[in-house]
Amino acid sequence: MADPTPTNPSPISVAEAPKSPQATGDLAISHFGRIAPIYDATSGGASRELARYLVDLIDKPISQTSIVLDNAAGTGQVTQEFLRWVRKYDPVTGKSPMPQTMFVVDGSDGMISTAKIQTREVMTELNLDRDYITKVNFRILKGEDLHEFKKNTFWYSFTNAGLLFFGDPVKGATEIFRTLKPGLSTIAVITTWKRLSYIDIINEAQWFFDNTLPQFKIPIADEWFTREKLFTTMVAGGLLNVEVHSTTVHYAFETHRELVDGLINLLPKLMESLDSDSKHIFRNALSWVVQKYEKIIERDGKRLVGLEMEAWVGTGRKFKAS
Ligand SMILES: C[S@@+](CC[C@H](N)C(=O)[O-])C[C@H]1O[C@@H](n2cnc3c(N)ncnc32)[C@H](O)[C@@H]1O
Repeated sequence: MADPTPTNPSPISVAEAPKSPQATGDLAISHFGRIAPIYDATSGGASRELARYLVDLIDKPISQTSIVLDNAAGTGQVTQEFLRWVRKYDPVTGKSPMPQTMFVVDGSDGMISTAKIQTREVMTELNLDRDYITKVNFRILKGEDLHEFKKNTFWYSFTNAGLLFFGDPVKGATEIFRTLKPGLSTIAVITTWKRLSYIDIINEAQWFFDNTLPQFKIPIADEWFTREKLFTTMVAGGLLNVEVHSTTVHYAFETHRELVDGLINLLPKLMESLDSDSKHIFRNALSWVVQKYEKIIERDGKRLVGLEMEAWVGTGRKFKAS
């Protein structure tokens, strides 16, 4: 079983062994609530890079009458990247096609509190005025029951790396479909992970260090790494014209050292079990393996050292009001 303990800060792992699907879902929400303040710092920018990719994916220009859902929003990265795009659209006049309303929704109150703080910070950084601030709303809601929203509401509905953690993912997809506005320019975008390369890297380092150690795993069911799982869940929810493609993002930090530290932080239980010499040896093994796979990337004009992560990106539509 995985190293994850209740203190594991990994943004893409949950804390304890599954019981019923519902209990597993609730466990995931409380785990994410606990790690909310450090979620962005520990994710190595991978989900933010993915969020940016999703915002780039939708047809432009966007409608000023549109309503946007950032579902299972975590710290609100999709919303923040959407705002960055809005700002970039016309930086000279500041007259950007801001949607009519954006909703940042998550089952965890801890995540929503953090999302509020971080989104306000991004708005200040982007120099967005009051008019924009009032257009972004926050709600604590489980994705399986978006009862606050009427059917046929959202033009753009994003669920980034969230649906796989739901207690009932098909119900989540059904709610995404119910609340999606029918039309040719409206879209639901849902992502899951295809490959988290650091799992193999940690396992390789563990093997060199002590090949009797249990393999590092994260408690995401293997099927969620397949294209079929995302596709069939979206179709079961009622979405039409479902297409799933993959894209590569990066778990990246400013230095090799920080990258290795990031991985070490995913292994609190293992590290606690080692004496200081063994910690040092394991760290060296991990550093050596990481060096084989790391890549230099550029993000926001900065040179970073990163590992590739692949995501599945599903898009779906609705054509008739229902
Ligand atoms: C890996 S994070 C992704 C967050 C964000 N979308 C991003 O791209 O960074 C998963 C999020 O899903 C939320 N979540 C898990 N199960 C949920 C559910 N049933 N309903 C609503 N949110 C849920 C968690 O609280 C967490 O914020």
